[in-house]
Formats: sequence, structure tokens, C-alpha cells
Amino acid sequence: MRTPVMAGNWKMFKTAAQTRSYFEAFRPLVASTKGREIVICPPYLCVPAAVESAQGTSIEIGGQNVHWAAEGAYTGEVSAPMLLDAGCRWVIIGHSERRQYFHETDEWVRKRTEAALEAGLKPIVCVGETLAEREEGRTVEVLERQFQGGLHGLKPEGFAHVVVAYEPVWAIGTGRTATPEMAEDAHQAIRTLAQLHYGEAAAQALRILYGGSVKPDNAAALMAKSDIDGVLVGGASLDAKGFATIVNA
Ligand code: PGA
Repeated sequence: MRTPVMAGNWKMFKTAAQTRSYFEAFRPLVASTKGREIVICPPYLCVPAAVESAQGTSIEIGGQNVHWAAEGAYTGEVSAPMLLDAGCRWVIIGHSERRQYFHETDEWVRKRTEAALEAGLKPIVCVGETLAEREEGRTVEVLERQFQGGLHGLKPEGFAHVVVAYEPVWAIGTGRTATPEMAEDAHQAIRTLAQLHYGEAAAQALRILYGGSVKPDNAAALMAKSDIDGVLVGGASLDAKGFATIVNA
């Protein structure tokens, strides 16, 4: 049985004070949630407030990116041991906004993933096609390239801690969600890739999240699909009540 992961990606939103008031509202709404892992990924500067606010709950905190070196002269970067030290247990890697605006490559995704695993963080590795790629019928080819480039050659015991998020770029922040069927097809393609690279047992254990305009009113239909093992939520995770509805969908 794969335990679903319900993750929120706050992107570049909220201050430390807003983080604290969010958790005050959010905590009671998920206090009795069972059988789901809840993860919130705030901006780096809000991590301490989030970690403190989540103490004594099952909510875990993650970073939104991570550098592959443990330390060094990399102005503006944050390392995996630093995230861990701050109380993070997870980290998002290769988000399409990083790929699109910051020229993230599959090679960097692999290096970040290795560094996260090495430090003991659970990586949420994002993959997904653009609208043009989907319309050209290249979705599976893109997923293959991203999987091969970003997730190939990890140690099997490392891969066991990886979570993949399928996030079609055309669905992110657009209000245009993939239908549960479209998402399920892509998730099955990703599971097949996992099977080819890491074997049947690893593929069956792999949690694959869907992300892209997940909202309180479409989360249940997505979660009903057998290959959708959770969600990665951007915009709708910023509202405590709305995200709690999604977590409990
Ligand atoms: P969205 O973002 O839910 O706002 O579409 C999802 C994501 O980017 O992870």
C-alpha cells in the first residue's frame, strides 16, 4: 500500500508571521487526518516558523529547492544538510518554474536528488510536459527524457525514498487541470519507467503525485485514481481551509 503524500508548495508567498497564522488555522483541520503524509514547502525564510508551528503534529516541512554541494562558495544557494538542520524532511526538486525561469537541467535535477538523498531528505522530483509537447504527442517521450536524465542511476535504496510529481506545465497556475484520466495515463507511464530502471517492486512502491491546478473541488476525483498517490498543490495550498479540504479529500 502506498501512503498518499499531500504536499503544498507555497512558492514565493507568505512571511513568517503569515506562516504562523496559517498553521494556527491549518493544524486543527488536519489533526484527525489518518493514512496520509502532509507536507508543506514554504519559502526558505519561513522554514523555522513552519517547523516550530508544526511541532507535535504529523505535518512535515520541505524546501523548494536545494543545491548539490553540502557547502561552498555558491552565493544565494542552500544545501541539503542546511535544510535538514532547519527541520526540513522533504525537498521539491526540478519544479517546472525552476526549469523554465532558472534554466534547470535534468543533470542538475539528478545532482540535487543525489544530494538530498545523501543528507536524508525525501525528494519530490517534478516532471511534466509543456502544452506544445502534449499537442505534438510527445508527453511520454518528455517524461522518459526527464526520468532518464534526472532519476537514472540512483542507488536502489535511495530511489526508494524518491517521490515523483507529475506536473504538466500547461496545468500549473492556469486553472486548467489534467483530467483524472490524463493524469492516470501519465502516472502509469512514469511507473513503467520506474519499473524499467528500478524493477517491479520499486515501481509499485513509488509514490507519484499529481500537480497542476489541484483545488478543493477536483482533488477527490484525482485521488480516486489508483496510480495517483497524492498531490502537489501550489495556489490552493496558500489557504489553510482550502488545503485542509484537499488533504482530506
Ligand atoms: P498550482 O501549482 O497548484 O498553483 O497549479 C502547482 C505547482 O506548481 O506545484
